[in-house]
Amino acid sequence: MTHHGVGVIITLLALGLSQANGNIFERTFKKLHEEPYVPTNQNRADEVQTLWIEQKLDHFNDSETRTWQMRYMINDVFFKAGGPMFIYLGGEWAISKGRISEGHMYDMAKEHNGLLAYTEHRYYGESHPLPDLSNDSLQFLHVKQAMADLAHFITTQKASYEGLSDSKVIMVGGSYSAAMVTWFKKTYPDLVAGGWASSAPLFAKVDFVEYKEIAGQSIALMGGSDCYNRIQNGIAEMEAMFANKRGSEVKALLKLCEPFDVYSDLDVWNLFSEISDIFSGVVQTHNAGQIEGVCQKIMAEGSDLVGLSKFLLSEFGESTSKCNDLSYNAMIDTLSDTRYSGSVRRQWLFQTCNEYGWYQTSGSASQPFGTKFPVTFYTTMCADLYGPQFSKSFIEDRAAETNDYFGGFTPKVENVYFSHGQLDPWRAMGIQDEKQATIIPKHAHCADLGSISIDDTAEMRASKERVAELVREWLK
Ligand SMILES: *[C@@H]1O[C@H](CO)[C@@H](O)[C@H](O)[C@H]1NC(C)=O
Ligand SMILES: *[C@@H]1O[C@H](CO)[C@@H](O)[C@H](O)[C@H]1NC(C)=O
Repeated sequence: MTHHGVGVIITLLALGLSQANGNIFERTFKKLHEEPYVPTNQNRADEVQTLWIEQKLDHFNDSETRTWQMRYMINDVFFKAGGPMFIYLGGEWAISKGRISEGHMYDMAKEHNGLLAYTEHRYYGESHPLPDLSNDSLQFLHVKQAMADLAHFITTQKASYEGLSDSKVIMVGGSYSAAMVTWFKKTYPDLVAGGWASSAPLFAKVDFVEYKEIAGQSIALMGGSDCYNRIQNGIAEMEAMFANKRGSEVKALLKLCEPFDVYSDLDVWNLFSEISDIFSGVVQTHNAGQIEGVCQKIMAEGSDLVGLSKFLLSEFGESTSKCNDLSYNAMIDTLSDTRYSGSVRRQWLFQTCNEYGWYQTSGSASQPFGTKFPVTFYTTMCADLYGPQFSKSFIEDRAAETNDYFGGFTPKVENVYFSHGQLDPWRAMGIQDEKQATIIPKHAHCADLGSISIDDTAEMRASKERVAELVREWLK
């Protein structure tokens, strides 16, 4: 402990900040990886049945005989024998009934007398191939295994569900599960007639610098350039304080818990990564007025530093009398828990380390969130969590393999409709050519899954109508 820390300890003790606020990373992560939202008008969840199907632990090793139970949900209110099956694909979240009892896919199932299904992705929610999440147990967590689960699900349903043997299949997904729709259609073209991929990231990239660029642009577009500048200046000021041995002042300002070491790169990187992710959460989940509201709060204060830090404190803290534990070790500790809990971070981070990268780093100068969350921060986390073999070059090789296998930006797939929100930072990893994909102005991530509504913008409505028209063609 250097003398720089002493004043802070005293301050913290004086304020009684000995207890930490509940897991800040967890809340931010949840926001960024939640089940895509579908606006709810009526509660029809009682239409939905929860069921289980046996799956192989390893679809690609015949000597591996272990099996497990995958959860799925079925809604048959519209189904008539011979009608199509509409499958909503689960991604890195727990499935819930609302997604097949509301929304645009539900409406299309009604039009076509279809059966609605929602599949849960292995290792998420209640679908546990093995009883824990140890490094060893995670070896069967891979999109190729999850797609083989889906293939088995479809062939089993068609063979056993009455009235489904000659039915066509339509798939819908959001975010990661939209990438799966695309890759499934490519890998198993005979099992699915067509798919709708909302906000699909298709290109695996380790140093995903574009994410924060688009997040910054969306803040400037919706919240104004003053807000963008204030975030940029406030973060730059904090960085300068760390650089000038005034890190303890930032520590006091943001009420960071004692273990935070202002001279540790990993702690500082973790802090700035979390700060930028709080803004990512605001942008990615934007709906009417959200970015504008945050910007109003930030602009209401007299200075950049105060505007920014007051907003961050309100986001960190359930309680202002507790400290905020943003040390690297605190994060590693919670992610090292190999039990299934409500959290999906250990699983999803493993998939990023092993398949995609997608680290939303500070590697671009054209973004407002500073310079202190380099790609090394994320690759270090991979090795610390899952084993030393997860070096940067290993992770890069794995991402390259994903792109070789699925085709990256050119998946060469037919009958998949791609939609993105203009404000969504993820769109940079998806198809952006307007001949091949629809970019919906002033909307965020997976914002188009709801029913056609009088509140839709003209572009939103046109995109939803286009999906419905394509589904009619695919089902002919
Ligand atoms: C296949 O499964 C068997 C039985 O669990 C195991 O001993 C073997 O190592 C596995 N092979 C591969 C290539 O993973
Ligand atoms: C997983 O690997 C990490 C990093 O090498 C190690 O610290 C941890 O003990 C391992 N945990 C389990 C449960 O295998």
